[in-house]
Amino acid sequence: MQQKRRYRVVVIEGDGIGPEVIAAALPALHAAAHAAGFVLELEPQPAGAGLYQWTGTAMSRETFELCRTADAVLKGPVGLPGVRTPDGTEAGLLGGVLRRGLDLYANLRPIRLLDGVASPLAGRKPGEIDYAIVRENTEGLYIARGLGVATPDAVADTMLITRRGTERVARFALDLAHSGHGAPRDRVKRLTCVDKANVLRGYAFFRAVVAEVAAEYPDVEVEYRYVDAMAQALVLEPDRFDVVLCENFIGDILSDLGGATVGGLGFCPSGNIGEHGAYFEPIHGSAPDIAGRDLANPVATLLSGAMLLDHLGEFDAAASVRAAVSEALRRGVITSRPDGTLASGCRAAGEAIAALVTAPERYTGS
Ligand code: IPM
Ligand code: MN
Repeated sequence: MQQKRRYRVVVIEGDGIGPEVIAAALPALHAAAHAAGFVLELEPQPAGAGLYQWTGTAMSRETFELCRTADAVLKGPVGLPGVRTPDGTEAGLLGGVLRRGLDLYANLRPIRLLDGVASPLAGRKPGEIDYAIVRENTEGLYIARGLGVATPDAVADTMLITRRGTERVARFALDLAHSGHGAPRDRVKRLTCVDKANVLRGYAFFRAVVAEVAAEYPDVEVEYRYVDAMAQALVLEPDRFDVVLCENFIGDILSDLGGATVGGLGFCPSGNIGEHGAYFEPIHGSAPDIAGRDLANPVATLLSGAMLLDHLGEFDAAASVRAAVSEALRRGVITSRPDGTLASGCRAAGEAIAALVTAPERYTGS
């Protein structure tokens, strides 16, 4: 008999609503794996602000090693407002540990308006907003994390842009545009490089290096936008965009803006991807104010799970999770309130989506 394919997946529940959204997402992922004939071997690991409170570290060496050697990592949101390091920054965050530690240089953030979700942008229909933000994940302004020079009267955080760092993330974004379907408006494969090259030398360098790499991709149209104008464009003409490439700090901000246009961060998954590893997480935070009340939206975590399955090469399983999410939204099984909470409950949403993965034709819930 043929051996089943098996994948080792580290699961980090995280803080706040993390345990709920992860618990809601796992049954659908297992169902998709089962139907496609493979097994996800989960390795739950503690990490985040809760662990920091207990142990003084947000992630142990052992957990980091497991993340490094696993086939992939599924991570919930981490961080709690009150848990701070002595310099005043949040203590339980893992971006510095995992993104830098595993050199996961591309943060892929699809911004997609799903059927059954209302956009706050008047008249925008599903399919009209469908672009991917590629956020450089290991340098830029956030290289200064924990390193800023501070006196009691002044603080300097420095932005670093390197040729190597820019080349590799530009290549990632251009490959994505090259292999994709183009922008909703005109089906043109388009890379939009976002910077502030008119003001800061680092951004001018970023733009110049992107232009060099882009010359290798004749079928991708390349354009450049300043980030202030881009904030406006993502609201006024989101259908123009296909792949949006950003420095770390700019990508952090624009991905929340983009998320708002597709119903909120509760619908926005992400992948942190490098040459030798990857982890997948919802873009949203740990929302401690609604934690434990069955109000959180697990869709971002489910779609992050679908990205994880794609990363493993299990494309059919990934597609079945996405189809189940879409179907649940289309049927109104999941209804999101304007504040991002789910009227229909986090656990029920997870159960409905798992049932739709298992037997879409037999599922009769509404
Ligand atoms: C994100 C988050 C993190 C970041 C925070 C929590 C450190 O906002 O993934 O977008 O800034 O990268
Ligand atoms: Mn962010």
